[in-house]
Amino acid sequence: MTEASRHPLIIGSGIAGLYVALRCRELGLRPTIVTKARLEESNTRYAQGGIAAAIGPDDSPKQHLEDTVRAGDELVDRSAARVLTSEAPARIADLVRYGVPFDTVEGRISLGREAAHSRSRTLHAGGDATGYSIEETLKRRVLDAGIDARERTVLRALQPGSRDGPVAVLSDADGKNLEYSTPAPVVLATGGAGSLYRHSSNPAVATGEGVAIAFRAGALLTDMEFIQFHPTAFYREGAPRFLITEALRGEGAVLRNDAGDRFMVGIHRDAELAPRDIVARAIERQIVTTGHPCVYLDATGLPRDLLYARFPSVCHFLATYGLDPSRDQVPVAPVAHYMIGGVTTDLEGRSSLHGLYAAGEVASTGVHGANRLAGNSLLEGLVFGERVARQLLHPASGGPKPPSRILEVPLAGGTGVAEEPGELESVRNALWDDVGIVRSAEGLRSAVELFERRAKWSPAGRPDAFPGPVANAALTALLIARAAAYRTESRGAHFRSDYPQRRAQWRVHIGLRQPTGPARAGTVHR
Ligand code: SIN
Repeated sequence: MTEASRHPLIIGSGIAGLYVALRCRELGLRPTIVTKARLEESNTRYAQGGIAAAIGPDDSPKQHLEDTVRAGDELVDRSAARVLTSEAPARIADLVRYGVPFDTVEGRISLGREAAHSRSRTLHAGGDATGYSIEETLKRRVLDAGIDARERTVLRALQPGSRDGPVAVLSDADGKNLEYSTPAPVVLATGGAGSLYRHSSNPAVATGEGVAIAFRAGALLTDMEFIQFHPTAFYREGAPRFLITEALRGEGAVLRNDAGDRFMVGIHRDAELAPRDIVARAIERQIVTTGHPCVYLDATGLPRDLLYARFPSVCHFLATYGLDPSRDQVPVAPVAHYMIGGVTTDLEGRSSLHGLYAAGEVASTGVHGANRLAGNSLLEGLVFGERVARQLLHPASGGPKPPSRILEVPLAGGTGVAEEPGELESVRNALWDDVGIVRSAEGLRSAVELFERRAKWSPAGRPDAFPGPVANAALTALLIARAAAYRTESRGAHFRSDYPQRRAQWRVHIGLRQPTGPARAGTVHR
């Protein structure tokens, strides 16, 4: 092991980034972690429902595996899901060791129920403040361990380095003062892209630049068409789209339309606890057919004490809008929530580029298939984060096997025009309108055209010689739209109104990469 390889650079500070940094330190490495905002600002912080693990007396990793596979609509990579579910209890033990204050009942960790789980297996902390508790605990540990942690530092590009790994080009948050890292292993833990959608449960930092930068550097991506929409975020004109956790439905809250009818009962045998994509689409259908902008979560059948003890953040948020869920119907509508695809990795977190690793939401192991099970996202950050840390200690050659279908997407050349921040809005609107819950060839075509134009960037010899936020956002959006246009069927989180059925020939993952030969738009290798 060279000296440089003992100094991995970790980009991002959600559960995956913080956990990899901590484990690297414990294993004797000297990681640096950089993050574009504050250390604690990430999607993890806002996770409410919790983290799934088969630790209950009536449960087993095998059962968790089967639920994960079933939710993923025939596309789950079984070996990845086996790793996820079998290593979950050990990773939960790590969180307990670090001091995450999971909620307990009579001395035992208490387990909640979420959609498409056959058992109660969701650990939570502070009621619905699970992500906050995990993020704060890991952050404190990182700082206590003296890990070099740099805030307001942005990844701008990845360049070829040495056998130790790539060179990361970093800048300050304003895009100025470029800095080139020493070649060393780089771990992408940059999270998802939810906030690229007009309506999202994600914080503003979730802009998906990790996938754009990895793609520009030549990495293979997979499953980018699968964006998960969460069925129930608070709906009120002008109000933030605050997540109203699925765990509320797990406790017995039901969905009603404007007329007061429980519409999920006739749609799926698990009604409100059907897989997320089914509930999100059913709500979207209600909105379109009734013309009413939302449906209602009815938790009035639940005891007030339970609601306020188990869901303090939700109750507190609703109170600021004059609502009490024990008394009032809560207006909700779907939002973009989670990026299922991302940088293709093997089970050790190795990407297709030497020395580049990925863990958490930015990575694509195939573990979620076409639709992620609730609680498996925080878990994946830990399980595959642990594997990345061990790989960094004992690097071995290897990498992901490319999927059988690869879509080649050439990069658009520069325009010489500097980016206008307002252009981001057009990307967000087009993603929501044309690459959202229901998609069609026509909408995807117009979205692709827009994203191709916006993905160009200024090539001038200044800091903006590297693509800025709009160009990266547009490239991530383009990759989602291209994959969605290519998959002419409906499966899991990907629904096409022009191809509403699942089709056997599409029981495959779609990879995306830059053309290997001379650029040919839309080249497809089967
Ligand atoms: C929720 O609390 O409803 C979201 C949980 C998740 O996405 O895993």
